[in-house]
Amino acid sequence: MDSEDRPITPSHGLPETHSSPEEDKSVLQIWGKSSLKGHVTISGAKNSALVVMAGALLCPQDCRLRNVPSLADVSRMGEILASLGVKLTRQGDVLDINASYIGQSTAPYELVSQLRASFFVIGPVLARLGVARVPLPGGCAIGARPVDLHVRGLQAMGADVHIEHGTVNAYVRGPSRRLKGAKIYLDYPSVGATETLMMAATLADGETILENAAQEPEVIDLANFCRAMGAKIQGAGTKTIVISGVPSLHSADYAIIPDRVEAATFLVAGAITQSEISLSPVIPDHLTAAIAKLRAIGALITPESPNCLRIAPGHGLTATDIETLPYPGFPTDMQAQFMALLTVSEGDSIVTETVFENRLRHVAELNRMGADIRVKGNHAVIRGVPTLSGAPVVATDLRASAALVVAALAAEGKTTIQGLHHLDRGYENLDTKLQKLGVKLQRLQGDSTTEVETAPLTPIAPN
Ligand code: UD1
Repeated sequence: MDSEDRPITPSHGLPETHSSPEEDKSVLQIWGKSSLKGHVTISGAKNSALVVMAGALLCPQDCRLRNVPSLADVSRMGEILASLGVKLTRQGDVLDINASYIGQSTAPYELVSQLRASFFVIGPVLARLGVARVPLPGGCAIGARPVDLHVRGLQAMGADVHIEHGTVNAYVRGPSRRLKGAKIYLDYPSVGATETLMMAATLADGETILENAAQEPEVIDLANFCRAMGAKIQGAGTKTIVISGVPSLHSADYAIIPDRVEAATFLVAGAITQSEISLSPVIPDHLTAAIAKLRAIGALITPESPNCLRIAPGHGLTATDIETLPYPGFPTDMQAQFMALLTVSEGDSIVTETVFENRLRHVAELNRMGADIRVKGNHAVIRGVPTLSGAPVVATDLRASAALVVAALAAEGKTTIQGLHHLDRGYENLDTKLQKLGVKLQRLQGDSTTEVETAPLTPIAPN
C-alpha cells in the first residue's frame, strides 16, 4: 500500500484534517498586479463529492467514485463515514467506499459540527437501518442554516423524528423499518433537503414526489449516482423529482462532475486581471448565470471545445447588478468573488444576497483593500474604484476567502490573507494552479518566512 492508497479513518485519514482552525496561523501572500496566462484544470465538484459520498451509504456493495477532489471537507466526510463503520480507500482522485456494514447509526458531534453537509447522512442511514442519530450541525459564519425542511420531509415519509440534546433522532416503526413514499412540498428549494429526501426515498416503500425541489447540478449528479446504483429517479434538475423506491441498490463506478464554483472563481480571476486563460474540464451549462454576468461586466468568453472555456479581456470592466437565487439563478457561492470583480468595475453595482442571511462579511475586508462598498441589509452597493491596494486581510468563510484571493491578484502590491482553513476546504491545489498561471505567491507558516507545502487544513464553517 503506497502513501496515497490508504483507508480514510480518523487514525489513518488524510493529514490535512488534523490541525484545528485555532492552529491555523499560516498566511498566503499574493503579489499583484498579476497577469495570468495559460490553462487551468478544474477539479471535481466539492458539493457533489460530499453528497455522493453520503449517497454511497445506501449501497451494501463496493462503490468507486472518480474525480473526487482532495479537500479538507472531503476528508472530514470520509471520517464521518468511517465513524459509522464504512470502509474507505483513496488513491489519487479515486475513492472506494464499502458500506456493506454500517455498525453505527449515530454520527459524532465533533465531526458533524465542522461540516454541515455531513448532516445529509441522516437520509441514507435512516433508509438503510431504519434509525439514524445525527447532531444538529449548528450555525456557521454565513447564517443560521436550519434543517427543518430535512426533518419535515423525513416525517412525511413516516419517520418519527425528535430533537433532543442537540441531536436529531430519527427512526422508522414497523417490522420492515422502511420509509414510505410520500408527496413532499419544500417551502424553499433547499439543496441539502432535496438531497437528503431523494436519498431517503430511493429505498422507501412506494413513490416519493418532491415538489419545489432544488435544481442545482449537484442534485442531478447525486441522482445520476443513485441511478447508477439502480435507483429509480426521474426529474432531477427540474422542480419536481419522482423517486420510486427499490428494495436495495448495487455497486457503481461513478465520476463526479467538474466544480462550477471553482471554474467561476478562475473566470473571475481572468476577468479582474484582464488576462486570457482557458479552463477545462467544465460544463458550460452549469455556468450560464456566471458567464452572463461576466459578459455584462465586459469579459469575452468563448467555448474552445464542449468542455473548455476561454476568457479574454473585452472593453474594460463595467458595473452590473447581481442577485443570488437558487439555481438556475446566480449562485450564492459565486457572490463574493463577483463582488471582488465589481470593486474595480466602472460605475455603481448592487449585489443582493437572498439565499443566506449573513453572507456579506467579506465587504469589510475588501474595503480594507481600497474598495468602496456600503452594506444595507442584504444589499451591498459597490462603487467601482480604479484600483485596489494590497493589505493584510482575514478570510471569513470559504467563498469570502476566494474573493480575497481574486482581489489580491488585481491589487497593487502585497496582500496577506489569514484564515486559510476556509480556503482549503473548497479549492484543490489553489496555490499551485495560480502559480502555473504566473501568479507570484507564497504560503507562510505562522511567523516563519519559510515557504510551506500547500496542503489543505481543517474546515470549520460549512457550506
Ligand atoms: C448547499 C451547498 C452550499 C450552497 C447552498 C446554496 C453543499 C454541501 N453546500 O448548502 O455550498 O451555498 O447549497 O446553493 O452542497 N434552509 C432552511 N431549512 C432547511 C434547509 C435550508 O431554512 O431545512 C435555508 C438555509 O438556511 C439557507 C437556504 O435554505 O438560507 C439555502 O440552504 P440550502 O439550499 O439547504 O443550502 P445547503 O444545502 O446547506
